[in-house]
Amino acid sequence: MAGPVRTVCVVGSGGREHALAVVLGRTADVVVTPGNPGITGTTLEGHTITSVDTPAEEIEADLFVIGPEAPLVDGLADRLRSSGRLVFGPGAEGARLEGSKAFLGALPGPWVVKTDGLAAGKGVLVTDSLAEAEADVDAKLSGDAFGEAGRRVVVEEGLVGPECSLLVLCDGERLAALAPAQDFKRRDDHDDGPNTGGMGAYSPVPSVDDAMVRRLVDSAVAPLVAALRSRGIEYRGVLYAGLMLTPDGPKVLEFNVRFGDPETQVLLPRYEGDLAALLAEAASGALITVPRFAPDAAVCVVLASEGYPDAPRTGDVITGLGDAAAVEGVTVFHAGTALATGAPEGTLVTAGGRVLGVTALGPTIADARRRAYRAVDAIDWPGMHLRSDIALSATAGPAPDGSGASTPAAKEEVSQ
Ligand code: GLY
Repeated sequence: MAGPVRTVCVVGSGGREHALAVVLGRTADVVVTPGNPGITGTTLEGHTITSVDTPAEEIEADLFVIGPEAPLVDGLADRLRSSGRLVFGPGAEGARLEGSKAFLGALPGPWVVKTDGLAAGKGVLVTDSLAEAEADVDAKLSGDAFGEAGRRVVVEEGLVGPECSLLVLCDGERLAALAPAQDFKRRDDHDDGPNTGGMGAYSPVPSVDDAMVRRLVDSAVAPLVAALRSRGIEYRGVLYAGLMLTPDGPKVLEFNVRFGDPETQVLLPRYEGDLAALLAEAASGALITVPRFAPDAAVCVVLASEGYPDAPRTGDVITGLGDAAAVEGVTVFHAGTALATGAPEGTLVTAGGRVLGVTALGPTIADARRRAYRAVDAIDWPGMHLRSDIALSATAGPAPDGSGASTPAAKEEVSQ
């Protein structure tokens, strides 16, 4: 069992890490590496949040929380654990779930394996056999089966229905689900435009009740954790199940090995307990706390740079942050921001694709949404882009399909 957590090191620099820092900062001092200028400050509870350039391996903290997938896939959690640190986040073996989409065995079947290139309608395999799916991926990626057309394959399940992100903490064996959230992946209103990391999110999801969460954990997440254990992988971190709620029941689109972003920006502000203690329990293999969430709703609207996601423009001066943060219930989480050089001290400029996540809490989704957009109205920079329909369908009561959202076929790309 872990001792008291007085300091936490969060690895990452986005809105997810800012949200982690703010909520961990209710009970602990937080160091974020590398963080960003908007993350630094003092929490309402009086704890400090600092951004540093120091590598995580050189930081002393009671608990390490690794945000993005890249350092997890790269084995940062293993390196920290091997030097005796308490780490929330899977080792490289567990992170292969996300790092290699060809890690098919961890995904529930059936599997659909397609060539990405044209193959005269012959490049699709649908099978319930993992061995057959893996052999087909090998044949395609090697070029043996379809030449160049097969050197990139897509594992796909074409589904339509409301999406749901379910994040489940795991201590290697025990599971604890967080509240469900819904993410908006397309860049533009009405689910148009290219896929992005996420243009907004809300929580709770009215169509996903506690009983459904339990069913999802039992049917989708528990078998995966059991499969990992049978391979000798003790997964201590968060498993993010991207789900499609189809008329035939929930289907898993993907598993990720980290907190979702922006989902984290709506989930954690609703968390009612001591997050540092909760994550320390999971990290130490002693997860006993049942996470509880406030009945309040949360809505996050992501503000992105012009050109996102293909070629985001950076360096534009951001205005209105103070007025936005003054709106009741609002927290502005920073992702792609930087301090301007040669400008008045404290001037922030855009420094990435997703720049800010404007999250508001409110008694209902409609209230939270109104507050979030009121705060968004105060913020500006040249070319700022946002969706105007985040959580809109959820304010009108359940739509016939549960949320009114529809998404294109789920795709997982595998490249050689
Ligand atoms: N919001 C999608 C993700 O974090 O992968």
